[in-house]
Amino acid sequence: MAEQSIHGMWSSRLIFVLAAAGSAVGLGNIWRFPYVTAENGGGAFVLVYLGCIALIGVPIVIAEVVLGREGRQSPINTMAELSRRSGRSTFWQVVGWMGAGTGFIILSVYSVIAGWVMAYVVRMASGDLAGVDAASAGAAFEGFTQDATSVLGWHTLFMILTMFIVARGVGRGIEVAVKYLMPALFFLLSMLVVYSVVTTGPAFAEGLAFMFSFKFEQLSWAAVLLAMGQAFFTLSLGMGTMMTYGAYMPSKASIPRTAAMIAVLDTSVAIMAGIVIFPLVFANDLTSSSGPGLMFVTLPIAFGQMTGGQIFGTTFFVLVSFAAVTSSISMIEPACAWLVERTRLSRPKVAALLGAIAWLLGLGSAFSFNYWNDLQLIGGLNFFESMDYLANNIMLPLGGMLIALFTGWVVDRSIVRHQMSVSDASLTFFLWIVRVVAPTAVFVVFVMTLLR
Ligand code: PHE
Repeated sequence: MAEQSIHGMWSSRLIFVLAAAGSAVGLGNIWRFPYVTAENGGGAFVLVYLGCIALIGVPIVIAEVVLGREGRQSPINTMAELSRRSGRSTFWQVVGWMGAGTGFIILSVYSVIAGWVMAYVVRMASGDLAGVDAASAGAAFEGFTQDATSVLGWHTLFMILTMFIVARGVGRGIEVAVKYLMPALFFLLSMLVVYSVVTTGPAFAEGLAFMFSFKFEQLSWAAVLLAMGQAFFTLSLGMGTMMTYGAYMPSKASIPRTAAMIAVLDTSVAIMAGIVIFPLVFANDLTSSSGPGLMFVTLPIAFGQMTGGQIFGTTFFVLVSFAAVTSSISMIEPACAWLVERTRLSRPKVAALLGAIAWLLGLGSAFSFNYWNDLQLIGGLNFFESMDYLANNIMLPLGGMLIALFTGWVVDRSIVRHQMSVSDASLTFFLWIVRVVAPTAVFVVFVMTLLR
């Protein structure tokens, strides 16, 4: 087994946790979780989401990291090599290919939304949004997304930023960023939680009740699929990101324990974002105006009313931008690592090439809120919604299911045992989940959604 990857290594277990948490914590937690939860009725959705994290998510994080650390290469080459070493068909590498493709789709959407976030840094800083009420915050957001030129400009800027870090590589780019930014984000988010508790009055209870009261009659199979998709998305699972980051992980650290830490960090950030945003939704009567704009409407209201809101608001959107960057780099790293392994191209060239492709694809999402408002792709969804649906609800769960099956049925048990270094009973339990439980769960949700 290789002790090192050619791409570099995290300098400690803690850095691996921060990098993986940096990938996991992002717009998925702060932007997507609240609005998807709002669109799906709250409590029951959250419960299914949490169930998916624990039952499917954590085991697949473990599986990906196990494979990655054993293979120490891009997912495509890791899966090919582990199949070969286990005496199986190398065809399994298609899962790596699928994942790399999904990475482009996700990054293309992500970059557009992260661009919105960066634009909001400037808007907060300029005082443009000072003292806004719900109606004007909503109007400001719509006005902004309809302005194709500036959306495009921010999308371009974010993509360049992402590719700049990817070009610098593992140690010098990613590691430096996550070490400081993740703790800062956590701290500011905690402050917002306190603000929410103190100032939203009765709406606070309403917001919490919305998130935690389980009304099962509201839950359709379609919503279960969305909750499962969100669990995959938020943990960066099913496309090889965790596998790639695992390839750079020191050999000694315990994989199950680190996986649990990543899941706990990621889930707390999502719940905290919900605690901040939902009370504001109720306090300002925003229930009707949910959708992708939710965060961009609620947070400016809160910042607009608090003392020092301009500074806090600016800082917060800066940190969300960084949280987005530490995620976006991890979407393209699987494809990037593969090209670096496979060709003679330098990492910066590879980054530029891949960034250009993702940028082009992103135009579709950038224009979904203006020029291509009326364009419909999959079943009445616009371009942005179609990409989001395809990636989160189909590709990631499918990829995750295949990775689980691969780990459970294809890779030699001795390899898994070696990487896990747990008791035989725990190993058997883990294998039972990745062989049977996780794949069945994904399969059942797929089928039930289709039959609905
Ligand atoms: N987990 C990231 C988020 O929640 C998104 C992501 C998905 C990152 C897939 C990498 C791979 O924002």
